[in-house]
Amino acid sequence: MTTTQDSHTDEAPTYEERLLTLSQASVHRHFDAFLDIAWDDADHAVDPTDPRWVLPEVDALGRHPWYRALPLDEQVRIGLYRQANVTKVGLQFEQILVAGLMNYAFSLPHGSPEFRYCTHEATEETHHTQMFQEFVNRSGQDVPGGSRLFTALAPVLPIAAKVVPYGFFFGVLAGEEPIDHVQKSILRAGDEMPPLLRRIMQIHVAEEARHIGFAHQYLAHRADRLSRFDRAVLSVAVPVVMRWLANEILVPSRRAQRDMGIPRSVVREVWFDSPESRKFLRDLFGDVRMLVEDCGLMNRPSRWLWRRLGIDGRASRHRSQVASAAA
Ligand SMILES: [Fe+2]
Ligand SMILES: [Fe+2]
Repeated sequence: MTTTQDSHTDEAPTYEERLLTLSQASVHRHFDAFLDIAWDDADHAVDPTDPRWVLPEVDALGRHPWYRALPLDEQVRIGLYRQANVTKVGLQFEQILVAGLMNYAFSLPHGSPEFRYCTHEATEETHHTQMFQEFVNRSGQDVPGGSRLFTALAPVLPIAAKVVPYGFFFGVLAGEEPIDHVQKSILRAGDEMPPLLRRIMQIHVAEEARHIGFAHQYLAHRADRLSRFDRAVLSVAVPVVMRWLANEILVPSRRAQRDMGIPRSVVREVWFDSPESRKFLRDLFGDVRMLVEDCGLMNRPSRWLWRRLGIDGRASRHRSQVASAAA
């Protein structure tokens, strides 16, 4: 890695150096939605009757007895629909992110270390939106994506990147951490899944690591500059945004629930009430809790709020710590 100042060679890298490393990694390892996925390969054709669309055990719905008791063709239908819908929500989220990154970068000063990295990230996210939309197209599923509230707010959310960039980048983590967490656990579980979906997830996980890394770096670096007022507002806004966006990504919208035919009681159990779903939610944000503590955004009222929202728990000691079975 090129260092900007010799005096830093033996010390921990500076913020600028870390961002440069991320940018250089984006140059050397990146994926193109149409070059790096053999869409027309016979192996990658989406067959809506393929039993490999059955949701894996690591999926909250996939392991629920209601789903398991369905006839195979119904499990396959719901499985394909769910994968397509999660993908659609992911790409809508990325569209908001790209728009926000452009708003944020628009008036950065010359020489800003964030400018280059944000534009690399936007390039990668644009490829992700193409890759995700292509999958949705080929799935043949008419999926709605996010909830009506999320869709209605989508044009307004990128403005936050301009007005309150610090809050915006927490929002970015609120979207990226759950998708990344879910995709990594599916890949780690190694269950059989259609190779097209596996390829898409592998590409996504590889690039998201950098995006999540940047958001963490940015937020930790800027924390000292927050006023007491900003800190007070953010300490309560962050857990609310985290929980809201996690729900958008994890829980199917009303229309998606109807299309899949999931009874309300099952929805409640799978995503809200069961001990597994509660643990899952708490584990999801271990890294963010660590960051929030480091940034001085955890105080008495906010700790109460994190608990009330069901996303409290031990903070990770370092990023991407695999959640302990006992947590
Ligand atoms: Fe992405
Ligand atoms: Fe990302």
